[in-house]
Amino acid sequence: MDRRTFLATGTAAALMPAALTASAAQGDSPRTQHTLPSLPYEYTALEPFIDAKTMELHHSKHHKAYVDGLNKAEAEIAKARESNDFALIEYWSKKAAFHGGGHALHSLFWNIMAPPAKGGGGEPTGTLADMLTANFGSVERFKKQFTAAAIAVEGSGWAILHHRHSDGALIILQAENQHKLTTWNTTPVLAVDMWEHAYYLKHQNRRADYLAAWWNVVNWQQVQKNLKP
Ligand SMILES: [Fe+2]
Repeated sequence: MDRRTFLATGTAAALMPAALTASAAQGDSPRTQHTLPSLPYEYTALEPFIDAKTMELHHSKHHKAYVDGLNKAEAEIAKARESNDFALIEYWSKKAAFHGGGHALHSLFWNIMAPPAKGGGGEPTGTLADMLTANFGSVERFKKQFTAAAIAVEGSGWAILHHRHSDGALIILQAENQHKLTTWNTTPVLAVDMWEHAYYLKHQNRRADYLAAWWNVVNWQQVQKNLKP
C-alpha cells in the first residue's frame, strides 16, 4: 500500500494523529515531527481493568520515548543523506523501525480501548462479528486464539489482529518488540501490548489476568472502523 492509499484509510487517521497529516511544512518532504497523541479518555477512565498509574506511565513515558526515538532516528537519517555518510544507516534504520513500530502500535492501542460505559467491553456486533465468525469459527474461538497468542508472546511484544488486503482475511500474529515477526500488506485493527510495562504494576507476571481484564475495555466499534474498506 503506498502512502497515498494508506492515508486515504480511516486507519491512517487513527494511527497517525497529527504525525503525517500536518506534513509538507519542510519543503516537499512528506515527513514532520511526530508528536505524542492525546488519549481519548482520562488516565483513570479504564479503572478497575487498567489502573491509572500504569496508563499514565505507559502513555506519558513509554509512548513518549518511542515518539522521541522515531524523531531522533529520522533526523539522523536525514543528516546522513545530507552529508552522504551512511556509515550508521543500519543502526538508525533499525531504530526508526523499532520506535516507529512503537508509536504506531501504541496509537492504535489507545484507540481500541474505551471505558465500559463509553463503548468498551461487551461483544462485537454487525460486520465485525460476522467476519470474526467466518475467520475463526466464532467470536469466542477468536478470543481464545488471540488470548493464547498474547500470553505466548516471547519476551516483549504484541498480539495483533490484522486485516489482510489480498483476500480480506482476518489473521492473528504476534510481534516481537514492536516490529519483528509481523507481515506485510495488512492493516492492524486490534492489538494488545504484552510488554511488562503494560501490566506489571497491577498483575505482575499474571498475563492471563491482565488479558481477562483487558477484554472488558476493548472498543469493538473502533475495531470495526479500523477494518480496511
Ligand atoms: Fe507499551
